[in-house]
Amino acid sequence: MEAHLQLWGSLLLRWLHFIAGVAWIGASFYFNWLENHLRRSEPADGQTGDLWAVHGGGFYHVRKFAAPPHGLPPELHWFKWEAYTTWLSGMALLVIVYYWNGATLLLDPSVSGIGRSQAIAIGLGTIVVSWFVYDIACRSPLGRHEVALTAGMLAWFLVLAWLLAQALSGRAAYVHVGAAAGSIMVANVFRVIIPAQRMLVRAAAGGPAPDPNIGPRALQRSRHNNYFTLPVLFLMISSHYPATYGHAHAWAVLGLLALAGLAIRHYFNIRHRPGARAWPLIPAALLLSAGIWLSAPPAPRQATDAASLGQAYAVVARRCGACHSARPAQDGFEQAPMGIELDDEAALLRHAERVYGASVLTRSMPPGNVSGMTDAERSLLAAWYATTLAQPTRR
Ligand code: HEC
Repeated sequence: MEAHLQLWGSLLLRWLHFIAGVAWIGASFYFNWLENHLRRSEPADGQTGDLWAVHGGGFYHVRKFAAPPHGLPPELHWFKWEAYTTWLSGMALLVIVYYWNGATLLLDPSVSGIGRSQAIAIGLGTIVVSWFVYDIACRSPLGRHEVALTAGMLAWFLVLAWLLAQALSGRAAYVHVGAAAGSIMVANVFRVIIPAQRMLVRAAAGGPAPDPNIGPRALQRSRHNNYFTLPVLFLMISSHYPATYGHAHAWAVLGLLALAGLAIRHYFNIRHRPGARAWPLIPAALLLSAGIWLSAPPAPRQATDAASLGQAYAVVARRCGACHSARPAQDGFEQAPMGIELDDEAALLRHAERVYGASVLTRSMPPGNVSGMTDAERSLLAAWYATTLAQPTRR
């Protein structure tokens, strides 16, 4: 029953997280698009630009003002709960999926022997420390040089990805880098952008003139958020792709994909500027190709060090059998996951390809390496698989 509730908890939270994220990023992309497409006009009555659009059965005429010309309108729409909801549901999801059932997804005994509470402390610590590192960097002299700041933050996240992979499972390492970057985006909204808007609104309502630095600072943070989106979204979906987080140099795969994401975002941001070209798409394509190339699985070893079916089956029985059996011994399992029962040598032969894929190519099994499969055992399965392929009559 607990496993069932956990399943539904994670499903409903994931659904909510996804919806809130779509609403948040969607609004952010929309306003960015708006800003890039406004027809600029000489300021008249406070208006600095406008734009016509047609959508959903009507025409929209959007106008931009530096400040509302006739005092504060009676109703003013803010956009902040999309961001907060995304963060709250994301943190809850992190707890349910990675912390509650800690052993399988959070830890990997083959990379470190730390316990669950240590891993959780490392994970949450990463998120908090990353915000301070970023916030201090933005306020320091580095904050005035966008390229240096971007390079510095990218380096921070890659070092983090490498460090976390020394303590947590590859998948948990990636998800924590994503959570740290996503939390920075939400903290930007909560700590800088919304307070700045509040001051602008207060000034428009006849309050004191706002600090002149506040507008540029909020703009800087919202521009950062815009560039953060694609790398963060990549990190969020990567948990379904063991070839990324499971790679021996997962930090490098992340670096290439994050840079590609930045380049793609940059392309969309400059596309409508006069004289802009599609040049960012070239580095984006090269970086993506490099990422795809780097994450390619090694070719199966040739049958020089052949392993017998018996040896292979002994490994599978030891490391997979607790779950992948007609009668699983593992707590919480009532049947073999995805119907893959590996109870005898004939069954192993039947599932040879998938066993090889999951334990050697992607290393996604055993999940979180709960049963402590060694690299030597993976190599043995690889050698056995190569032998099996070389002698099809044995299949
Ligand atoms: C702790 C229990 C557990 C152990 C141990 C385990 N698995 Fe799994 N396995 C699962 C679960 C749960 C799923 C379903 C995952 C999903 O729904 O994404 C699964 C799915 C699979 C799949 C189908 C998905 C895919 O990636 O093709 C294969 C193949 C597989 N396991 C092979 C193995 C092999 C080989 C081993 C041993 C090296 C192993 N498993 C050890 C729990 C386990």
